[in-house]
Amino acid sequence: MAISKKIREQITQGSWIRRMFEEGIALKKKHGVDKVFDLSLGNPILEPPPEFRTELLRLAQDETPGTHRYMPNGGFPETRAAVAAALAKETGAAFTAADVIMTCGAGGGMNVALKAILDPGDEVVVIAPYFPEYFFYIDNHGGVTKIASSDPDFLPDTDSLGRALTPRTRAVIVNSPNNPTGTVYPAERLAQIGQAIRRAESRFGTEIYVLSDEPYRKLLFTGAPFPFVLPHHARTVVVTSHSKDLGLAGERIGFLAANPADPGRAEFVEASTYANRTLGFVNAPAMAQRLVARIQDALVDVDAYRKKRDFLYGALSEIGYECVEPQGAFYMFPKSPMPDDRAFVALLQSKLVLVVPGTGFGSPGYFRLSYCVDDRTLEGSVKGFAEAFEEAKSR
Ligand SMILES: Cc1ncc(COP(=O)(O)O)c(C=O)c1O
Repeated sequence: MAISKKIREQITQGSWIRRMFEEGIALKKKHGVDKVFDLSLGNPILEPPPEFRTELLRLAQDETPGTHRYMPNGGFPETRAAVAAALAKETGAAFTAADVIMTCGAGGGMNVALKAILDPGDEVVVIAPYFPEYFFYIDNHGGVTKIASSDPDFLPDTDSLGRALTPRTRAVIVNSPNNPTGTVYPAERLAQIGQAIRRAESRFGTEIYVLSDEPYRKLLFTGAPFPFVLPHHARTVVVTSHSKDLGLAGERIGFLAANPADPGRAEFVEASTYANRTLGFVNAPAMAQRLVARIQDALVDVDAYRKKRDFLYGALSEIGYECVEPQGAFYMFPKSPMPDDRAFVALLQSKLVLVVPGTGFGSPGYFRLSYCVDDRTLEGSVKGFAEAFEEAKSR
């Protein structure tokens, strides 16, 4: 084979989610689609809000010459201004268009930011349980991933974070609401993260970014405002997308926003704009940029996700599963009733319920399920969860 050894290894060993996905396809072929309950994937199930279609139809009629041409690599000035205004309203921070770059989703944005700040061998700290793609994103730009741990309630352990910070640390990735746990990090913990980072900066004479990965920040069930990382560390970059809050995952539209409190942000934005171009994204899709500029206040029906959470959290708790109640996103991270999470996931699979072992998220002994599935799949999975729990107890 002519492909790189590293990529071959990453493809074969890298992704539990992908592995479960492939096993799911095989099981569905064997038993029939409606007999298999696949909770392994985080593909947003809710349709975009009605404002999306109205705007899309309007845009389709727009014959202004140049509408579909290249634009500045950071995006249309009017889209950046609309995003900055919405973010300023949400956060109270004085964002302007110059602080914002439109990106191909949060995944594209994270790659752009990492390319902008990493030299080969630089370190990026992620907090377990983590979104496994971070490893590949960091590796894409010559970085090295270091892992900090969480408390049993899945909030970052700030002592562990402090120990993970070294003279080579260039960034810490914070992901709240979290994939895979659904936990929302409270302001006090974010303040402690900021303090730990500043202690490391003054000890090592370095500058450390927080890359705040927030694609789930509007999928919140608490009723309380979202605790932003921004006030707790000046060198913070918001990385997000409209994949989940507008249900537009396939349209690849998101943005980066550098904290107005960061005096070095103009240089970061310049470097990220260059990275957006040279990574080959060139710019975020033009139609999607025009679209989201007009619907910044729209949102999918978050209550539908809350109802799904309530149903499954209630059903699993009743069976006896231990789980921290998710406060946002659309994932749950229950404790495996057997010490070996992979063995338990295999047992669940024998009941035709598909989830992902916690090992894949850096936290063995747990499993991740995604409840952004239709109600038939959710309801149908409960029997398998109950049977597997009983069998696990007797093993
Ligand atoms: C934590 C987290 N970050 C980033 C992404 C990337 O999302 P997108 O590139 O669609 O915005 C995802 C997608 O599942 C995610 O769960």
